[in-house]
Amino acid sequence: MTKDPQNKKLWDGRFSEATSAAVEAFTASVTFDKRLFRHDIRGSIAHAQMLRQVGVLSLDEYTAIEAGLREIEADIEAGKFDWSVALEDVHMNIEARLTERIGVAGKKLHTGRSRNDQVATDMRLYLRDEIDTIVGFVDVACEALLDLAEQEAATVMPGFTHLQVAQPVTFGHHLLAWHENLRRDRGRLLDCRARVNVMPLGAAALAGTTYPIDRTYTAQLLGFATVAENSLDAVSDRDFAIEFCAAASLIMVHLSRFSEELILWASAQFGFVNLPDRFCTGSSIMPQKKNPDVPELIRGKSGRVCGDLVSLLTLMKGQPLAYNKDNQEDKEPLFDAVDTVKACLDLFGQMIPALQLNCDAMARAALQGYSTATDLADYLVRKGVAFRDAHDAVGKAVGFAIKAGKDLSQLSLAELKQFSSVIDADVHNVLTLEGSVNARNHIGGTAPEQVRAAIKRARSAGS
Ligand code: ARG
Repeated sequence: MTKDPQNKKLWDGRFSEATSAAVEAFTASVTFDKRLFRHDIRGSIAHAQMLRQVGVLSLDEYTAIEAGLREIEADIEAGKFDWSVALEDVHMNIEARLTERIGVAGKKLHTGRSRNDQVATDMRLYLRDEIDTIVGFVDVACEALLDLAEQEAATVMPGFTHLQVAQPVTFGHHLLAWHENLRRDRGRLLDCRARVNVMPLGAAALAGTTYPIDRTYTAQLLGFATVAENSLDAVSDRDFAIEFCAAASLIMVHLSRFSEELILWASAQFGFVNLPDRFCTGSSIMPQKKNPDVPELIRGKSGRVCGDLVSLLTLMKGQPLAYNKDNQEDKEPLFDAVDTVKACLDLFGQMIPALQLNCDAMARAALQGYSTATDLADYLVRKGVAFRDAHDAVGKAVGFAIKAGKDLSQLSLAELKQFSSVIDADVHNVLTLEGSVNARNHIGGTAPEQVRAAIKRARSAGS
């Protein structure tokens, strides 16, 4: 296959035949890495500005490069750019077009740089922006949870362990548990951001470059906190993408748990919440159906983000230094994780304020499973009974109540006294749902007063 001058590669000087069409298609990444174009152009302008600063480029050359790149960016934004698979990736598409437009100055842009440090830089610039967007979505969801928790600080629902009614809790407290999950997620994203925000440029292919570059200056232009210390590491490290996918996986695991609860609560058997129609779809055969598709899909999509994490871990495992073409495979999993986590957080944040609550159903359910039994045991302990004996006495009282078809609070004083002589008329205060939640009045407890205090602390912490 002879070389085609119409289809000249930027690197084919030493090649005597053209790349086969199958290899060209197999090795190209432009179909998916073109989404990096803004960051690629930003990185190139900063690199050119630094080359100008250290005297490698003239002012005229720099000016032409910058103007040319900005025009290309505008064309891409306007959908007027023809991406070429023959030019392999976003980097060579843009560079080739620049040279077409501005001539020989365009050929100087790549001085002292390699696609290896270029792509690592683009990925970090891209991910830094996306992390900031995602943190914004987390903040919206957190805010929605705090608002609803405030409104429902005193609403009582059953708390579950093993999905069996355990003890009454406030709905506000339950929502604050979700909020804690997201707050940790936020912290993880910001921790990861610090390690994303390191500049590989200057590492060139793997060993650095012979030009008198000023990496600190380029880093400053691009807003990077530091420059990568080691050129071999700079072009090969993808820890930042893995860390992000780990943080994104945890976000998705959390969202899948919240979604699962919403799905349960929206069922006829629970009936705690109604999801507005705009978050649901119907069935093509069963006319009565209204399916909670949004939480179900969020739950389902958690699988793909965990998969993205495993893809990246496996991609990096066993790779020798420095850059290997394998690394081109880092993009699709990372992009997929970014897109998925953004869409899911966005919809989750919209769904929370739209929930229609059935507080009566929550209270009824809390009364059904003898949820105040622990309160009765604690009452006996306060009257001097040892906890194990109190546990046994209350167990017997619950057995009696089940047979009688009553809740503990519906047993008369005489009926209760059969199980412990220390029980008095004041017992009924502790058997109510309100008495039960109000009594758990310490930091981290479910009492409405504590829920309100926790919201205040969360708001003043700013997340
Ligand atoms: N498209 C490539 C990637 O995403 C860019 C770097 C290619 N470097 C090379 N030496 N072939 O990894």
